[in-house]
Amino acid sequence: MKQYLKIDEWSIIEETFDPQTQEISESVFSLGNGYMGGRANFEERYTGRSLQGSYMAGVYYPDKTRVGWWKNGYPEYFAKVLNSTNWIGIDININGTPLDLAACTVSEFRRELNMKEGTLSRSFTAALADGKEVKVESIRFVSMARREIGAIRYSVTPLNFSGTITVAPYLDGDIRNKDANYDEKFWNEVEKDGFPGGGYLTLKTKKLDFHVTTAMAYEIAVSGELLKADAETVLRDKYVANIVKVPVQQGDQVILYKYAASVTSRNYGLGQLVEAAQSALQSAREAGFATLLTEQTEAWKDKWKESDIIIEGDPSAQQAIRFNIFQLNQTYTGEDDRLNIGPKGFTGEKYGGSTYWDTEAYCVPFYLSTADASIARNLLIYRYKHLEKAKENARKLGFAKGALYPMVTMNGEECHNEWEITFEEIHRNGAIAYAIYNYVNYTGDKSYLGQYGLEVLAEISRFWEERVHYVPHKDKYVMLGVTGPNEYENNVNNNWYTNRIAAWTLEYTLEALAYLREHEDTRYAELVDKLGLLEEETDKWQDIIDKMYYPLDEERGIFLQQDGFLDKQIIPVKELAPEHLPLNQKWSWDRILRSCYIKQADVLQGLYFLNDRYDLETKKRNYDFYEPITVHESSLSPCIHSILACELGYKEKAYEMYLRTSRLDLDNYNNDTEDGCHTTSMAGTWMSIVHGFGGLRVQNGRLGLKPFNPGHWSSYSFKVMFRGSRLKVTVTDRDITVANETETPAAITIYDKEYTVGGLGTVTSQGVPAAI
Ligand code: BGC
Repeated sequence: MKQYLKIDEWSIIEETFDPQTQEISESVFSLGNGYMGGRANFEERYTGRSLQGSYMAGVYYPDKTRVGWWKNGYPEYFAKVLNSTNWIGIDININGTPLDLAACTVSEFRRELNMKEGTLSRSFTAALADGKEVKVESIRFVSMARREIGAIRYSVTPLNFSGTITVAPYLDGDIRNKDANYDEKFWNEVEKDGFPGGGYLTLKTKKLDFHVTTAMAYEIAVSGELLKADAETVLRDKYVANIVKVPVQQGDQVILYKYAASVTSRNYGLGQLVEAAQSALQSAREAGFATLLTEQTEAWKDKWKESDIIIEGDPSAQQAIRFNIFQLNQTYTGEDDRLNIGPKGFTGEKYGGSTYWDTEAYCVPFYLSTADASIARNLLIYRYKHLEKAKENARKLGFAKGALYPMVTMNGEECHNEWEITFEEIHRNGAIAYAIYNYVNYTGDKSYLGQYGLEVLAEISRFWEERVHYVPHKDKYVMLGVTGPNEYENNVNNNWYTNRIAAWTLEYTLEALAYLREHEDTRYAELVDKLGLLEEETDKWQDIIDKMYYPLDEERGIFLQQDGFLDKQIIPVKELAPEHLPLNQKWSWDRILRSCYIKQADVLQGLYFLNDRYDLETKKRNYDFYEPITVHESSLSPCIHSILACELGYKEKAYEMYLRTSRLDLDNYNNDTEDGCHTTSMAGTWMSIVHGFGGLRVQNGRLGLKPFNPGHWSSYSFKVMFRGSRLKVTVTDRDITVANETETPAAITIYDKEYTVGGLGTVTSQGVPAAI
């Protein structure tokens, strides 16, 4: 862990150039707009260590996983998010010498990610080997207002010489994926052209034929005057550049404005791509850099209006939470229900850009509270659209009915590459069902059940029905051979969490059916018919609910993570010598599997989801048993523990866990930020504040709050959208204020007292419990 970033409430700032931290910074300073995004690579050539990364949402490559030990039921491929055309590139030559920060002396370096406005800027002075010095300033963004557009203003000023600066904006599609077998390249060129003022490049992916056209245009000004200079066009394989030679006097500022438009065959017909890119580009160019920048600032202002969290008295915590919110808003914007959220967003290639249960378990709550309900709804519809594929997936694995959603997916098909861990995590089906409950409970939009939800719930329930089996001598249903959320156990019997979430899904499905029968009888009849749902099925579901087996230890009063868990040698993590940690780097897989150590919340994940079903004592006993043997080696772990610790009144522990999640990437806590940021766990950080310190739960149509101040901040406030209202909740040591920023009244509970916060009204509850 190395803290080299400057603390600032609205920005991430780096003030020295250090090649050692370059790849970490490339991840942290990434930009995205839900449609495309990329790492914070330099615009000019850089020959030091770097992962050049530009990604288009939904564009991937199905890499083969067929290996010698392939078995029935293994996925056909592992999906890889594809690194696509580098649109930011600008080659700079100074009197014939390339500007490359790896080959010159750099001073006054500053890089800033301005989270308030959604821009990345950089400035530095570079002294070349021959003593020539230039000052460079750049600012760029991917537009939130015009998804297909990215824009850069890049200036070079000769400080101690006159001569020629050559500026060459280019598009380079000849890029490599970091995640590639044998350095294989994934793109073929379709067409390209270059002309004075710009060019375009169309590439298509191997196998799936995704087409991506990127078009660029540029303008150059010298000391404020637009330059009308000839450009030499260079066309190479998957590469287009315009080279412009600019004669300069010492002190002249050469400014290049580069605009790029990227469009894909996901949104346009093949014959329309070039025209679509050119037309988006043309209109961006006509608007001009200043207007695009204003649009960007305005778009981010709107995002912050809905999702900001303010922490007073702790600038480091303030910066961290804004960083998490910023990255989440950059990653998913919710307009396109074919898209989802990869665990690294647009910041790297690990996890292949695919969708995991992270979306339902962690991200849905964030978008539910900080954006219009349609955004979270689109995340749910994504899974609805994959229902047929999930049914096929269950058939492939030998199930006669039901749906098993994939653990890792791009298009609904399973595409993980770690059979023994990932496949058996069938608990993901439960998270997908839970997200439907969460959405309906939070928004009150019960119409979702009839429109989409019930079909998904029923098919998941059918899967559980077939996956459990009845053991007569126990008079119980059991579930064998699964992996729970704790991936440091494989192929266990009766994982408590999986059994519990399965039985809960059956319960909720029956509840949804009863609701539809009573309130939407026509739709109910249609759905029963469409699903071919039989009474004997729903009777069986009830029987499973009644007789599900749950491993318990009565003496300790805890749920057992799985059968036989207590046969393990239980030694708290704090008794392990530090050199053993992290286990995933220091221990063999064999040793990990037979140890008691837990990667991430498992039983506790269930207690978080089904929070209102268990009393505090039960939660406490389980927390006290499991947390000390949890190593939190998944970034998804600390947040759930922080939330439960809040509920249990373990304030210090809650804060400690919060710190582990909130600055995970900014402080490179897990030593892996160079691979990309932990984007899905950022939603967990948000949850730690809002569900943890804020105690937010929704019950019976009321937004319940049980806030307390974790003790290190003078106050904090967060915003939540709730059923048409937007509420700003401020917590100080003395009181809790809920201000309604909209005209729509909201029914809330603060601790046990009910209030209605009128349109534009405010409610204050005196006295915040020092400890809960
Ligand atoms: C976690 C999983 C998670 C995946 C992607 C793994 O390390 O154990 O729960 O789905 O990362 O974030």
